[in-house]
Amino acid sequence: MPLRTLFPTLVHVAPLGSPPTAELNRRLLRECLQLRHDDRAGRSWSARNYPGGYTSYNSQSRMQQISPTFARLARGLDRHVLRFAGALDLDLRGRQLVMTDCWVNIMRRRVVHSLHLHPLSTISGTYYVRTPRGCAGLKFEDPRLERFMAAPPRKAGARERNRQWVSVPAQAGRVVLFESWLRHEVPPNPSAAERVSISFNYSWF
Ligand code: NI
Repeated sequence: MPLRTLFPTLVHVAPLGSPPTAELNRRLLRECLQLRHDDRAGRSWSARNYPGGYTSYNSQSRMQQISPTFARLARGLDRHVLRFAGALDLDLRGRQLVMTDCWVNIMRRRVVHSLHLHPLSTISGTYYVRTPRGCAGLKFEDPRLERFMAAPPRKAGARERNRQWVSVPAQAGRVVLFESWLRHEVPPNPSAAERVSISFNYSWF
């Protein structure tokens, strides 16, 4: 084909560990639910800013420094982040990508996390802990969207790489990584059971 792919937007999607880390995942789930129970400040912040859901984003956002279980998760994620940085050809000589934040999100039915990016970070992502059947995925927006002023819409069956929004399904045990400037959202969660995820940022120090 006479085509070259220029300026692609890379998203890394992979199982956290091989062999699968069911035991780690069980511990994480227990700690996420326990955290919601204990984190009064987080519950109250969530009631104002994350209606119907719970997030420790504004209260316990460095879980990797507090919990050995989350620290274990962070070590697993470090390996993925390094691979992703390699795929992006990031020149990290003399510097390191380090996890700065790591927080818990619990979404019940109809909870939304509207379109956003992660300022002051380099690589961000989510690890899925519990994903009830049919729960909301992670929806990415084409970063060039505001430039498509007179462009025709894309065909309904357009290839993934040519779509303007792409949803990555949430699947327990999986990691999704993206560059922190890439806008994304979690659409209203349709599932009755709670969806539990852990989000994180890495910065370039
Ligand atoms: Ni996000």
